[in-house]
Amino acid sequence: MSKVKKIGVLTSGGDSPGMNAVVRAVVRSAKEFGLEVVGICRGYNGLMNGDMVKLDNRSVGDIIQRGGTMLYTARCLEFMELAGQEQGYEMAKKLGIDGMVVIGGDGSFRGAAALSKLGLPTVGIPGTIDNDIVCTDYSIGFDTACNIAMEAVDRLRDTTQSHEKCSLVEVMGRHAGHLALNVGVATGATAVLIPEKEYDLKRDICEKILAAQKSGKTHHIIIVAEGCKDPVAEIAKQIEADTGISSRLTVLGHIQRGGAPTVIDRVNATKMGYHAVELLKEGIGNRLVAIKDDHVVDFGIEEGLAMKKTIDEKLYNVCRIVSK
Ligand code: ADP
Ligand code: F6P
Repeated sequence: MSKVKKIGVLTSGGDSPGMNAVVRAVVRSAKEFGLEVVGICRGYNGLMNGDMVKLDNRSVGDIIQRGGTMLYTARCLEFMELAGQEQGYEMAKKLGIDGMVVIGGDGSFRGAAALSKLGLPTVGIPGTIDNDIVCTDYSIGFDTACNIAMEAVDRLRDTTQSHEKCSLVEVMGRHAGHLALNVGVATGATAVLIPEKEYDLKRDICEKILAAQKSGKTHHIIIVAEGCKDPVAEIAKQIEADTGISSRLTVLGHIQRGGAPTVIDRVNATKMGYHAVELLKEGIGNRLVAIKDDHVVDFGIEEGLAMKKTIDEKLYNVCRIVSK
């Protein structure tokens, strides 16, 4: 007998491709165990106000391939206060929800920890393109965003090459450089700037560009993470002033958050959604589902959020060596 009878599932914070695939996996796994599922719309706002939709196997059909989230998502300031969390908890009780799945980033997981503390077992699943959730190798949407950004930069390279210019591309990632580093490696960028690493614009960018030019390189791609200390427009100006190479700036923006999820994101989403239901049916909450070395595991939310995640040093060094 399952310890939980009715699961609520919500998406919170910035959306990411693959969130729908998680919702689908949660619903269908729960049904397999004889549990009811309701979708809570618009994140914690929806939980506080009872904004919900009943979900069954058919209502989550035809969504595995879609980006975005069918449950909508939102940021909810009230839920950061105890009063908001208590309102959400009471609403869940009123709706008969006795277990929750929260798909989002670290802010959303603090909300999940608060619900668990109030007595509603809640499991978090990492869904963010930033891949900045410390306890997991992969968050849902990261791989898709890398691919979307890579395709955009490939297109930029065509015109950058034709005009023998320098293109600076700002990619998302909030305070983290995982997206920028991976996109930089995958697109063969001349240089990658990320917030985790100190850089000197003259030495690490301008001189590098000039050295590459001397060796015959006629165009350059520079990937800049949005969390870097210098505004990307300033970096473009400095490159132009120091190298004499005409520099153009492209901010990829929210285009990186859209699109059909990749195989990796769909498969991870499905595995993590199933794992969350397995935990909840045993009445286990306050856990974060993660992927470690290709295995699905889970951590206590506080423990998971307290872990340290550094940039992939090996990849960073390889990137520097092969970017010429
Ligand atoms: P993400 O989940 O992607 O990190 P945010 O940091 O914007 O995105 O958080 C999403 C939502 O999670 C917030 O709008 C709020 O409703 C909730 N949240 C964030 N921080 C906390 C907190 N410390 N306690 C409770 N809820 C929180
Ligand atoms: O956390 C995902 C993310 O896309 C970040 O990379 C970015 O900094 C932020 O959300 C943008 O948020 P908003 O959609 O509120 O502008």
